[in-house]
Amino acid sequence: MGKMKRYCYGFCLLISIAINILLSINLYVGENNQQTTHRSLLTWSEKAAAEAEEVAAISCSGHGRAYVDGLVFDGQPVCECYDCYGGRDCSELSPGCAADAESGDPVFLEPFWMQHAADSAVVISGWHRMSYRYPDYTTMSEELENYIRKLHSLVGNAITEGRYLVFGIGSSQLLNAAVYALSSENSSSPSNVLASIPFYPMYKEQTMFFNSESFQFEGDTNSWQSNNWTNNMDVIEFVTSPNNPDGELKKSVLGGKTIYDHAYFWPHFTPITGPSDHDLMIFTLSKLTGHAGTRFGWAIIKDKDVYEKVANYISVADLGISKDTQLRVLKLLKVSVEGDGKPLFEFSYNKMRDRWDRLTAVFSKSTRFSIQQRHPLHCNFFNETRLPSPAYAWVKCEREEEDDCGAVLEAGKIIGRSGSIFSAKDRYTRLSLIKSQDDFELLLQRLTELVALENGSIETM
Ligand SMILES: Cc1ncc(COP(=O)(O)O)c(C=O)c1O
Ligand SMILES: *[C@@H]1O[C@H](CO)[C@@H](O)[C@H](O)[C@H]1NC(C)=O
Ligand SMILES: *[C@@H]1O[C@H](CO)[C@@H](O)[C@H](O)[C@H]1NC(C)=O
Ligand SMILES: *[C@@H]1O[C@H](CO)[C@@H](O)[C@H](O)[C@H]1NC(C)=O
Ligand SMILES: *[C@@H]1O[C@H](CO)[C@@H](O)[C@H](O)[C@H]1NC(C)=O
Repeated sequence: MGKMKRYCYGFCLLISIAINILLSINLYVGENNQQTTHRSLLTWSEKAAAEAEEVAAISCSGHGRAYVDGLVFDGQPVCECYDCYGGRDCSELSPGCAADAESGDPVFLEPFWMQHAADSAVVISGWHRMSYRYPDYTTMSEELENYIRKLHSLVGNAITEGRYLVFGIGSSQLLNAAVYALSSENSSSPSNVLASIPFYPMYKEQTMFFNSESFQFEGDTNSWQSNNWTNNMDVIEFVTSPNNPDGELKKSVLGGKTIYDHAYFWPHFTPITGPSDHDLMIFTLSKLTGHAGTRFGWAIIKDKDVYEKVANYISVADLGISKDTQLRVLKLLKVSVEGDGKPLFEFSYNKMRDRWDRLTAVFSKSTRFSIQQRHPLHCNFFNETRLPSPAYAWVKCEREEEDDCGAVLEAGKIIGRSGSIFSAKDRYTRLSLIKSQDDFELLLQRLTELVALENGSIETM
């Protein structure tokens, strides 16, 4: 036994010396060769990276996606199939499936992120930022703030110099934080919250849901304007620019306190005519990079008191937003500002323009359906005059008797969102143009079929 031990000590010492020499050589060589250094020093991240790549490599026939956090079957992550596709590998297209253009899920940017896979991936250690706060006692990443300001100055869509920023869980959370911050402190005369028809339904939904003594939803700005109800009244107006659903660049109607919802104010969707410089502006990652699931938005605020109220709302609601989210957003914005934003915005604009070109070609053959007019404007970002390419088509059924456009489209196997959801007439329906390529292709096919019926014998469906 004793002999064995001594033998082992000698042997182990030799091996240990050999390993040390090898490592030193590696380190020395590594200094001149970054790649070698990285490879030899990776320890705990390798397993997670391998798992991420393994799951990402599952093809799902190109009609679905597998995720690390998806369900597992037979020890294998399950393919999550896109609409109208099924089967274990998503290869089965169900015939006669309706085109779902209902939601504003911004998956159209997914191919961009797959093209930038190496730059946009994030590794999160098991002990990443476990604290409630950053070292400066805040709950907002200063570096992320820097990148947001940098992106705005690069795109030229908002003034951020000398303005306060507040992060929220999506812009959704900031919409109500903003209403709260701007509302009257006098509970016997609550602030009146308004928006211009057609408007994003969340404004009404939230304002009613939170059922505050300080604010109440009052509906449409234009009816207030025409009835002169605004005089001496405390109003908070949502201005959505570009607008959801119709893509219009809106301005304030009532001229009082405003919340500018700039969710779609990016070069994908509209020419950037100049930087927005309003008191309270709200942006979202969802429609910028397409990462709606990350739930990240930000408010840009001029006034210190309003800023403090919005920040306090987030603090009371959440104690600040997820540090994991902020890390991921930082990584995505670093890619977004690469090449002065040209790769991202050229990809997104070209994608939207292509979809609009094909869509207008179909609608130009129709007298039964029309879509919103688009007018060219000079885009400072691209330094060129361009047509807007909105996130949604706002479809109108032109035939007198077809006053429920959603039902007409549904009979043609197209699912949209009815006008009344936006407080407009059901003669209108919104169709989403920002979903996946599969979704768009099917939408276009169904629209083409529907329009082709117009001059045929089976004209009325
Ligand atoms: C006009 C507008 N504002 C805000 C939002 C909310 O976006 P999020 O909460 O994902 O930031 C949306 C989402 O569709 C929207 O259309
Ligand atoms: C609160 O509103 C009521 C009703 O409009 C008004 O009479 C009262 O003067 C207001 N109080 C303050 C402190 O502004
Ligand atoms: C509203 O006010 C304007 C100007 O003060 C006036 O011309 C108009 O007739 C008023 N409209 C109504 C509906 O009272
Ligand atoms: C149907 O007929 C009208 C009028 O002749 C024409 O303008 C339109 O392009 C036709 N539509 C289709 C889909 O052929
Ligand atoms: C914008 O385009 C015009 C005309 O093509 C050109 O003269 C001008 O120098 C460009 N501006 C910038 C900032 O590139």
